[in-house]
Amino acid sequence: MLQAIDLTKRYEDGHLALDALNLEIKPGEIFFLLGANGAGKTTTINLLLNFIEPTLGKALVNGIDVMEQPLETKKHIAFVSENVMLYGSFTACQNLDFFARLGGKTNLTKKDYYDVMRRVGLQEEAFERKLKTFSKGMRQKVGLAIAIIKDADNIVMDEPTSGLDPKSAAELMQILIHLRNSGKAILMCTHDLFRAKAAADRVGIMKEGRLVMLRTREEFLQDDLERIYLDYMQEAVL
Ligand SMILES: Nc1ncnc2c1ncn2[C@@H]1O[C@H](COP(=O)(O)OP(=O)(O)OP(=O)(O)O)[C@@H](O)[C@H]1O
Ligand SMILES: [Mg+2]
Repeated sequence: MLQAIDLTKRYEDGHLALDALNLEIKPGEIFFLLGANGAGKTTTINLLLNFIEPTLGKALVNGIDVMEQPLETKKHIAFVSENVMLYGSFTACQNLDFFARLGGKTNLTKKDYYDVMRRVGLQEEAFERKLKTFSKGMRQKVGLAIAIIKDADNIVMDEPTSGLDPKSAAELMQILIHLRNSGKAILMCTHDLFRAKAAADRVGIMKEGRLVMLRTREEFLQDDLERIYLDYMQEAVL
């Protein structure tokens, strides 16, 4: 479970990027966080991952405060970003092995790594190739494979479909649905309304650091999500 309680971030330059966010993402739920550029989505993720400190409020992972127990909370959260940080001179398989060991998983075999790389749709000929020869989408798949191997209760994703071709993006959604069904709590920050419509259990819209809309799947399917989104964006202009 991921929780934000009055979570607030004012950056050093005085900009209020996140204004008292209250949000809970439960086990077995895919939550899509939408919002314009600069709305505060990545800031929210960075606070949950304890990459930055809140100005006020709390971020909790499985009920534990990320500021109080950073090492413990990091065990329970896997992160897939748009620009996955991986080792260029290692092969895909070596990257998986490195990060698996870093996460304390020392009993995995090459077969386990190959299985998960197949699952995320990485082409077989790339398994033993160095990462520096990979395209953006291929690197994202390796990042997703690392997150799956970590087997954390919570998965946080920042723009995961941005570098993926349509087939890979569709496969990613299938993987997320499978992970959701196995009880993971998934937070996905994206501009991809199409995927939100396809896979979200709940959707939130952020605007200027505030959560301005929250709807369950049942609720947003009664309306057109794109229209709802544009209506909320429009209000800022008026
Ligand atoms: N390190 C920083 N210092 C100062 N301001 C920052 C910093 N990081 C982000 N901001 C500001 O905080 C606001 C929220 O940024 P954030 O990256 O969270 O937005 P986002 O919703 O992820 O946007 P995008 O859709 O473009 O990824 C923006 O106005 C941004 O300029
Ligand atoms: Mg962002």
